[in-house]
Amino acid sequence: MEYIKLNNGEKLPALSFGVYEIEKDETTEAVLKALNVGYRSIDNAQVYYNEKEVGDAVKQSEIPREDIFLTSKNWVTNAGYDKTIKAFNKTLENLQTDYLDLFLIHQPFGDYYGSYRALQDLQKEGKIISIGVSNFNPDRLVDLILNNDIVPQVNQVETTPYFQQFEASEIMKEYGVAHQAWGPFSEGMDNIFENPILLKISEKYSKSTAQVILRWIIDRNIAGICRSVKEERMKQNLDIFDFKLSKEDIEEIKPIDRGESPFVDYTDLETVIEFNEEDEEL
Ligand SMILES: NC(=O)c1ccc[n+]([C@@H]2O[C@H](COP(=O)([O-])OP(=O)(O)OC[C@H]3O[C@@H](n4cnc5c(N)ncnc54)[C@H](OP(=O)(O)O)[C@@H]3O)[C@@H](O)[C@H]2O)c1
Repeated sequence: MEYIKLNNGEKLPALSFGVYEIEKDETTEAVLKALNVGYRSIDNAQVYYNEKEVGDAVKQSEIPREDIFLTSKNWVTNAGYDKTIKAFNKTLENLQTDYLDLFLIHQPFGDYYGSYRALQDLQKEGKIISIGVSNFNPDRLVDLILNNDIVPQVNQVETTPYFQQFEASEIMKEYGVAHQAWGPFSEGMDNIFENPILLKISEKYSKSTAQVILRWIIDRNIAGICRSVKEERMKQNLDIFDFKLSKEDIEEIKPIDRGESPFVDYTDLETVIEFNEEDEEL
């Protein structure tokens, strides 16, 4: 495994296994398979509704807790200082652990300044090793940095050949925030795995287009997250540490960029309203 050094001296694994949209009743089995094929970093969130099932898998695997990097994220309706502390404790209970390796503010909505103060305090108490944010565009990220003592260790944002995020990544680097990429395959949208540019590069290295995409992330000094419920694909996605893309390959992939997310627009009013909707389960 390769790692990205964080601004607090800790290490973020270059590749994590994500559990978004994995059904509750399939999660424990999927995570056990992922751990079995060699993943040691699991990306979770309160709003994925499967923290407990991830916790069950970690317990059942009998892998020492300190050998697994566990991430979760605080949802919008749990924003604010007190609510974040309460929601974080529930996350710990669900994941059956007494600390997290990384805890992120999931979205820049609600009282996320209050949440960030809670994260800084939880980090000082040793309950979270590294703290950060997710889906913070440069303006939100820099405002948060300028108004707090601790620079977030990580910003997890959508990063795929369809939405390459070069400018945002540069700003993260400038401020010492590690860039972690979500949704590398854009969930398979618009035949991404058949894209001619990606196919050409994959043939050059005798790798799959999925492997080329993951390497494209890591070779930009970004940490990746991938998700599959299929064991063969889990293995394939992890088998990326024996090749590297060249600067020319990265240049060649640039024209695929659409410059915006194929999934979400954070300025869209309906999105803002939807993210703020109360949910009893959370
Ligand atoms: N912070 C955030 O707001 C945020 C948002 C979205 C996602 N994330 C994180 O990022 C992780 C990854 O993103 P994602 O789950 O949205 O989707 P993704 O990883 O871009 O794509 C997952 C899809 O790709 C397929 N797939 C996986 N490996 C493949 C391969 N080698 N060949 C062909 N198809 C393959 C999977 O199908 P099968 O399962 O059938 O193999 C699944 O349908 C999430 O699980 C989550 O942890 C974070």
